[in-house]
Amino acid sequence: MSKKSRRPIEQIYSRVGPVYNFIYGKVLFNEGRRTAIDLLEIESGNRVLEVGVGTGLTLPIYPSDCEVIGIDLSKSMLEEAEDLIRKQHIENSTVQVMNANRLEFSDNHFDRVLGNLFISATSNPVGALNEMKRVCKPGGHLVLMNHFRSKNRLVAKVEALIGPLAKQIGFDSALDLQELLTAANLKVKCTRKVNLFDMWTAVSMVNEKEEV
Ligand SMILES: C[S@@+](CC[C@H](N)C(=O)[O-])C[C@H]1O[C@@H](n2cnc3c(N)ncnc32)[C@H](O)[C@@H]1O
Repeated sequence: MSKKSRRPIEQIYSRVGPVYNFIYGKVLFNEGRRTAIDLLEIESGNRVLEVGVGTGLTLPIYPSDCEVIGIDLSKSMLEEAEDLIRKQHIENSTVQVMNANRLEFSDNHFDRVLGNLFISATSNPVGALNEMKRVCKPGGHLVLMNHFRSKNRLVAKVEALIGPLAKQIGFDSALDLQELLTAANLKVKCTRKVNLFDMWTAVSMVNEKEEV
């Protein structure tokens, strides 16, 4: 995708690589990142895709006996991830610049697919979920960890009100989980509330697509 045709929500991350970890770092979000990895139920030898891997803050948390490929649109975020891989000698992970809406992998290539704080930071979340399903094996696990629209009407109103500001800093504050999953034809296996005030949710789904 050319820079010109990118929507602003994605453009934000082409600039914030070096400062991202101060905002979205370990203190606020690693509880959710760890829970998301638990929900993946990774088995030894599994091939795992992480979409929107960003600066790679999840990479040190994966078990060492799986293979992890992280993809992201933003070169600046991935430069930080590459730095982390080098500094922490993370031998099972690699990262690549790629658009989650056009994954350059064959069908059923991965056992597990994860998106942390990603699905509300992309302009075509349903398109990305369809691609995540396509590259994940039938019966494989898909996990998202994200903030979704609150079921509390008052909170949901506030989320809608701050929507324009949230988009300026890189996310959709009012993404509805149920609408999203219905559009992508996915069913929830289990959910866990995570991070500050339990305002984020880790959602696990089994890829129920037909064998191809
Ligand atoms: C809020 S950051 C989350 C990063 C990381 N997962 C974490 O836990 O810190 C969202 C990331 O999604 C990436 N992103 C947004 N749209 C994308 C797309 N269509 N394809 C790949 N990456 C995308 C952004 O570049 C950004 O790095």
